[in-house]
Amino acid sequence: MTAVGIDAIEIWTGNLKLDLPGTFAPEKGEDPEKYTKGLGLNASSFPDSYEDIVTMGANAAHRLMERKGLEPDDIGRIDVATESAFDNSKPVSTYVAGCLEQVYDGDFHHANKGERKFACIAGTQSLDDACNWIRAGRNRGRGALVIATDTALYARGDAGEATQGAGAVAMYISENPSLVELSTEQGYGSADETDFLKPNQQFPSVDGKRSVQVYLARMREALEDYESVAGDTHPDQFAYVPFHTPFPGMVRKAGLLVYRHMIRDTPIEEELADEIGRQPRAEAFDDEEAFRDALKEYTDKLKRTDTYQDWYGKTIDPTLTISREVGNWYTGSVHVARVSALKHGLDNDLDLAGSQLLVGSYGSGAQAEGHAETIQDGWKEEIEALNLEEQLEARYDLSWDDYEEIHDVHNHDMDVDVEEFTTPEAEFVFDGWGRMGERK
Ligand code: CAA
Repeated sequence: MTAVGIDAIEIWTGNLKLDLPGTFAPEKGEDPEKYTKGLGLNASSFPDSYEDIVTMGANAAHRLMERKGLEPDDIGRIDVATESAFDNSKPVSTYVAGCLEQVYDGDFHHANKGERKFACIAGTQSLDDACNWIRAGRNRGRGALVIATDTALYARGDAGEATQGAGAVAMYISENPSLVELSTEQGYGSADETDFLKPNQQFPSVDGKRSVQVYLARMREALEDYESVAGDTHPDQFAYVPFHTPFPGMVRKAGLLVYRHMIRDTPIEEELADEIGRQPRAEAFDDEEAFRDALKEYTDKLKRTDTYQDWYGKTIDPTLTISREVGNWYTGSVHVARVSALKHGLDNDLDLAGSQLLVGSYGSGAQAEGHAETIQDGWKEEIEALNLEEQLEARYDLSWDDYEEIHDVHNHDMDVDVEEFTTPEAEFVFDGWGRMGERK
């Protein structure tokens, strides 16, 4: 079967930055280390007043098309994944296509456009749809443009406020991809949950503590389901394990859960037995609570072992570097984690072609999905071509007053007008509904 997967990827960050230890923590009267060490975040990206999910998505897509020399005729499908949509009928992809048509001779009249919604997992679902469309031979030689774009904002004062973020990821999906091939085996963990939802409201209602437990439960189910089709996983099988990253502290928990699962009945578990004992098995306990306590005690010990810390340091921690500086991008977040991992490989001159990733996506409400990806020969050139570091460096550093103003600007319930903090440079801008997407 011909390889299908991500040929190219581009990231577009919101042009503003909120410093969490420096600006957010003092206002909240919190220890800065709650954010840097606890949640694992240094900063969040925010959209300037002329940015929104359309402009960020269109800007990421435009950069990608320019870099890869793509024309509209090369793209047979545009799917946008978002949980920040402002239109309940017309998909965001039509707005994005409208932006792109301003700068290309061709148009996207031939392209099938849609919008995917299942909280943060929708980006991965769109990617999956695009791969299946190609595998089914329905693409007529064209590739698919998948865009994950969100303004992840919470009501001020909400516990989630520290984990905000805004940005877009654009991916070109094709046969014989340069970056990663996606496996066809997948595992799911899915249940009707109310951990995080936005029923006709802009800001989410979140049961934060519960959302963490739901994430972990669904991720464990997805891993088990994945193993039922792909066989048992092993920690040494994957160069990196990028997860959906609402904040790095969440992934610290997910990494530990996945590692604990993977080492069951392996020599690693045996080698660790002298130090921390063997992992408790449910069958050995009559009482579920006693089993949970024993497992928690084992997990706490496992977390402190050098064996686990070494694995975490090389397999999980590198996936978090970008997230620490940008916060949660909802649908884009797991795709940012993949880039972060590959950037680590590039910076450390690793030979990754042929190595595997295990990608763990999650969407509240709730569903987790796991699949493997094989890194392709062209990965270095693709990652080298990104300019994310310059974008991050160029962000305007918001003061607390600036932050409150820009948060109000992006609150659909408020009619607020503020000056732009930054000057758009050759990018699509939102300038009121009538002039959506004009390129400055
Ligand atoms: N120094 C070091 N660490 C500190 C600290 C300090 N001074 N103060 C606190 N911490 C640690 C805490 O111990 C805690 O770590 P552990 O979880 O490992 O124990 C961590 O910092 C966070 O502290 P709190 O739990 O007290 O933080 P909080 O209650 O204010 O907020 C949250 C945490 C509820 C998850 C909140 O960030 C939230 O609501 N976030 C939005 C929901 C979310 O992202 N959920 C994740 C799963 S759902 C999902 O993934 C979908 C999605 O994208 C939204």
